[in-house]
Amino acid sequence: MKLNINGKAVEVNADPDMPLLWALRDILGLTGTKFGCGAGFCGACTVQLDGEPVRGCQTPVSAVGTAKITTIEGLSASAWGRKLQDAWVALDVPQCGYCQAGQLLAAEALLRSTPKPTDADIDAAMSGNLCRCATYTRIRAAIKQAAA
Ligand code: FES
Repeated sequence: MKLNINGKAVEVNADPDMPLLWALRDILGLTGTKFGCGAGFCGACTVQLDGEPVRGCQTPVSAVGTAKITTIEGLSASAWGRKLQDAWVALDVPQCGYCQAGQLLAAEALLRSTPKPTDADIDAAMSGNLCRCATYTRIRAAIKQAAA
């Protein structure tokens, strides 16, 4: 099947039921998207389909169709993505870093729809992305810095 990933047309030979997460990681080598729980709870596998955050572990690759897939490897094509990445570095957000790709994809979708988010907006948009190192305070600060 054909997929559009980070602005490129890509041919993928995968079982239709394969979760998008595994097609990205195991077939295409895009290993920035992480496996956390595999059950839709943690958000580590977050990618965007047509700009909306989705769980890669819960999305069969055959369900993607012509939607544009954005992964962490393509995030810097977005102006908001670049601002967020700069803020992430400036504020030293990650601890172990494992969840951060998913956090950034969720944050970029938030800023595109809500360029000046309140704390409540941030909490609502980011509540599905868990961080076991509890970097939530720095994530919120970095989103605000990117939005400033
Ligand atoms: Fe997909 Fe946890 S790995 S939500």
